[in-house]
This record gives sequence, structure tokens and C-alpha cells, in this order.
Amino acid sequence: MAQTDVRPSVLIIDDDSSLLESYTVLLEDEFQVYTAQTGEEGLQRLRQEDVTVILLDVRLPGMDGLEVLRQAKAIDENVDVIMVTAVKDVRVAVEAIKLGAYDYLVKPFEIDEVLSLLRRTLERQSLIREVLYLRAEVDRHQDMGAIVGRSSKMRQIYDLIYRVADTNATVLVSGESGTGKELIAHAIHKQSQRRTKPFVSVNCAAISEHLIESELFGHERGAFTGAVEKHLGKFELANTGVLFLDEVSSLRLDLQAKLLRVLQEREFERVGGSKIIRVDVRIVAATNQELKQMVAEHAFRDDLFYRLNVVPIHVPPLRERREDIALLVDHFLTKYNKAFQRHVQGFTPAAVAALCHYHWPGNVRELEHVIERLVAITAHGTLGVEDLPLDLVTERHQAVADIFMRGASLRQAKAEFERHYILRALEKTRWNQTEAAKVLGVHRNTLLGKLETLRIRPTADSETPVLQDTP
Ligand SMILES: Nc1ncnc2c1ncn2[C@@H]1O[C@H](COP(=O)(O)OP(=O)(O)OP(=O)(O)O)[C@@H](O)[C@H]1O
Ligand SMILES: [Mg+2]
Repeated sequence: MAQTDVRPSVLIIDDDSSLLESYTVLLEDEFQVYTAQTGEEGLQRLRQEDVTVILLDVRLPGMDGLEVLRQAKAIDENVDVIMVTAVKDVRVAVEAIKLGAYDYLVKPFEIDEVLSLLRRTLERQSLIREVLYLRAEVDRHQDMGAIVGRSSKMRQIYDLIYRVADTNATVLVSGESGTGKELIAHAIHKQSQRRTKPFVSVNCAAISEHLIESELFGHERGAFTGAVEKHLGKFELANTGVLFLDEVSSLRLDLQAKLLRVLQEREFERVGGSKIIRVDVRIVAATNQELKQMVAEHAFRDDLFYRLNVVPIHVPPLRERREDIALLVDHFLTKYNKAFQRHVQGFTPAAVAALCHYHWPGNVRELEHVIERLVAITAHGTLGVEDLPLDLVTERHQAVADIFMRGASLRQAKAEFERHYILRALEKTRWNQTEAAKVLGVHRNTLLGKLETLRIRPTADSETPVLQDTP
């Protein structure tokens, strides 16, 4: 019956049976009404039925209203509870609000009062549901969706994320800068049961040394000069959710000790305070430094390292999973075509080869920036090697082994080196030929002659000179 009924449902818990009857008559046009005369009975109902709102009398025989409220919220944290109280019990009702009751009604009340309060509650619930739904929609795309890559190394990481997400285990994500550590931290949060709870991020390297303690743990009013207000730290803000400690290696040694204590005991004091604050926070930390080596060098506490390194996830640099490059290029191309309203179709095979061959010291972030820049300055069409940034193209040719493998003569190899050396100088001087000639220690005319024979020329219509593809 309850399954096909589209009316929202109200559970009324009151020991006065005649009151229950009149409630039912008055509300059943709009609501599916359930009644119970004791708290125990009411909670039983709540476990069985899909209840939207509870009208709960503060005074009940047996289990009292506050206790019923507590247990009801434990059974279903989304159910809204309206306390019904006599004037003399209003203080209890206020207490109930603190425990999570939505509102209270004071007896005796008009039926209109009850109806409008119930309607308000429902309206708020549907808004919340809408937000949750929209958020879930967005999340679905962001889950792993945001992480691009099908290399076996990335697959292993997805697998690990799936397996640890639902535990509360501390995760340490390591890897070079720009490999996607933060994305992985987000994915863990998104896949965990804490997904609707906060994800709070602290970059330990970006906050000044004397502020980091108060950033993490908060401070009491007057804790130090300038602390005019009480301030909640990230640990408190992340309560029930996930705290992402980015660049954890930059944490001062004394704060490492404090962090260790929090991780062990899940409690701490705010700066300048003595009250013990308890939190339930899941930690995901990230580092682009070799923490193990820092431990060996006594720059990082070993006990903290072991606390953090419960589940290590190492993200390999992009050059060790080159099969992901083409996918990432596509992904960013789509992203920035959309963002800048461009219609860049893609890259020539030679350009793709150059992109895949480059060693990407800045990893995915560097790749993203390269594509972003290219799409921003191009309206449409296909991009070739000549469009790629110099570093990317020259690297291929700088490898002596490469040249050798092609069976180039010494003369060709020299010419190639010369070409790239000149390009470097030009790039460094922003294509000011007089300046570049100075850098190279040759006369400007000599340089112009070289440019001619080496087929290097700036394009006429662009401020950034574009190179011709290597002959
Ligand atoms: N596998 C991936 N798929 C899609 N985008 C990615 C991927 N990896 C990284 N990115 C993108 O690259 C950029 C850098 O990623 P992120 O900030 O997660 O790196 P990081 O490892 O935290 O770097 P750092 O150590 O410098 O903080 C972000 O814009 C991110 O969205
Ligand atoms: Mg990061």
C-alpha cells in the first residue's frame, strides 16, 4: 500500500489516542498517516515504513521524546522531526532542535499551523533532494569520469580506489607534480560513503608557517595577536568527511607531531584553547616528495609516515604510461574546444607522435596547458608539428641516439644541432634577431644567412613565430 501511495507520509507519536484520531482525520487528505502511542512503537514503524516527517510528543510514557528523536535520527538521518510540546516544556523542545529536530509546535495549536509547518518541511525536503540529485548527477561524471587513462598502471589505480574507498583507511597518494594526485583524492571521496559529506583540502605548502597550525586546528578568540574571532580549523570543517592534506611533506616537524596525535586519538585542541575537540575525519594525504627518503634524512617523522602510508597509491609519471597521452590529448581538446568555442579537429599523425614522444616533466598538467594554449589561439582545423611548442619538437631531435639511428652523417648531425641551438637562442630572445645574434656571438647578417639555409622563418601573421617542420 505504502509503495503505490504518492502522498508524503507523516508518523505521529503521541500517547493520547483521541488526539491521534483527530490528527488522522485532519491530515489524511494530504498525507499518508501512521500513528504510534509509544516511542518504541513509533521507532518500529519508522524502520518499516518510508516516513517523511514525524510529529513527536515530548512527553511519552516509557522512552521520552528526546530519546525517540535521537534514535529516529539514527535510523534515518533524513527524516524531519517536529516536536510537539506543552508551554512548560519549551526548553526541552529547544534542546531537541540542537539534537536535530526540525522545529516544534506548542500545544494547543490550530490545525492550520500543523499543516503549514508540514508543508514547509516537505518543500525543504524536496529542495534537498533536488540538490542531492543534481550533485549525484555531477558526481557520476566526476567519479572516475574525470580521470582519463586506460593504461594498465591507471587501471591498477582505479582498482585500488574502488577497494579502499569504502574503508576509512588513510591513503597516501604519491607521484610527481601534475600526475593527478588531487583528482585521485577526489575520486576516493566520491566513491566512499562520505561522498555527501565535506571534502576539505589543505595545501600544507601554500600556507605560511605561522598560520598553518591555526588553519588545521583552528584557534580560540585571542589566541594570538589578530585572532579576534574564534576560527574553526580544517579538521573541524572536514568532520564526518574527508580531509585532503596536500603536499604533506612541507609540514613543520612540530606540527607533524601534533598531526600524529590527532591521527592516533582523533582529538585535539584549538590553538590557544584547552577544550578537547573530537572529530571523525578520513585522511587522504598527497606528496610529490619521496617521503621515505625524507624519513631517512630525519626531515619527516617516521611514525607519522607509517600512520599516513596505510594504503599507498603511487601515480606514475606520464612518460611511464605513454599509452594514455593520446586519450588525454583528445580529452583536453574536447574540453577546451567547448570552453573557448573552437572547432579544432585534432592533430596530424606527426604531431601526435611528437606529443607521445615528449617526456612531459610537468606531467598531465603540462599536457593540459599545452592543449589549452593551442586551442585558445586556433580557430579550427588540424594542428601540425609546426604548431607545437618548441620544447616538444626539439626534444625529439636533441637525442643524439635518435639522429644516429636515422643514419645521419656528422655533417647532418651538426646542422641539426646548429638549427636547434639557434632556435633556442631565438626563443630566449623572443625572436629578436639582433639579440639572438649577440647571444650566439655572431654578426646579425651571419644569423640571417643561417636562418635562410636552415629554413627557419617566423610566420607573417602571428606574433609568435611558427617554425616550419624539420626538413
Ligand atoms: N588522468 C587524468 N585525467 C584527466 N585530467 C587529469 C589527469 N591527471 C591530471 N589531470 C589534470 O591535470 C591537472 C593536474 O592534476 P592534479 O592537480 O591532480 O595534480 P597533482 O598530482 O595534485 O599535482 P601537484 O603535485 O603539482 O599538486 C588538473 O587540472 C587535473 O584535472
Ligand atoms: Mg596537487
